[in-house]
Amino acid sequence: MDRDYLDSIEKATDYLKSKGISKPTVGLVLGSGLGELAEETNDQIAIPYTEIPGFPISTVEGHAGQLVYGELGGKMVLAMQGRFHFYEGYSLQAVTFPIRVMKALGVETLVVTNAAGGVNASFNPGDLMIITDHINFTGANPLIGKNDSTLGPRFTDMTEAYDKDYQKTLNTCANDLGVSIKEGVYFGLTGPTYETPAEIHMIRKLGGDAVGMSTVPEVIVANHAELRVAGISCITNYAAGMQSNLDHAEVVEVTTRVKESFKSLVKDFVSKV
Ligand code: 6GU
Repeated sequence: MDRDYLDSIEKATDYLKSKGISKPTVGLVLGSGLGELAEETNDQIAIPYTEIPGFPISTVEGHAGQLVYGELGGKMVLAMQGRFHFYEGYSLQAVTFPIRVMKALGVETLVVTNAAGGVNASFNPGDLMIITDHINFTGANPLIGKNDSTLGPRFTDMTEAYDKDYQKTLNTCANDLGVSIKEGVYFGLTGPTYETPAEIHMIRKLGGDAVGMSTVPEVIVANHAELRVAGISCITNYAAGMQSNLDHAEVVEVTTRVKESFKSLVKDFVSKV
């Protein structure tokens, strides 16, 4: 982390404040096909990533690529409609830059969401999973490099990377809403390839319940920044070896099917934190 990085966090933060994004307390990272939740916010201000100094530019289809600020469930939330992925070629500093900006704007709670493959044999496409923990299998870490102690400590405790109370709250919300919910460990890889059947076999043996190409870098940085994190995976398909083949269209189709329960779950959660 160098001076320029700190400067760009400050520039982006100042810019967003000048646009009226004054006091978000909850940050939302909306994964593939899940961005529609941002449209539920009231009195919203939407700012395309391209307009924000220091922000990378999202390229994946189905991602609007904007920040949406507004009221949701009685809280002021700042939602990322579309995220940056390591496999797009961004550095992990770039991937996690928006998290730093959220922290600088006053966010205390981060809700991360993603589309993921089901590894646990009891999961089905369309299931929602509370992320209880993750396994960083990307071979990388956004905190590698000189540590800036104004952003967080050199060695970050990851014992409760996903807040225990938030997991309980998510369970309560799901029960209240009659939304069925799973729990499990998110296994993070870089992508962009999906896994081979042998890799899925390994992931299951290592304790992964769902597998995906995002979330881990953001959650590491959120913990570094002392944000409390809640995570939800939308299981969009069976992982390799458990179904015939995989494509992105299927991911989009399933998220479309479950997005109503997803939206009500996150909205209820936001109202309760
Ligand atoms: Cl099967 N694998 C990975 N890495 N990401 C996914 C997925 C599978 N399904 C949705 N996203």
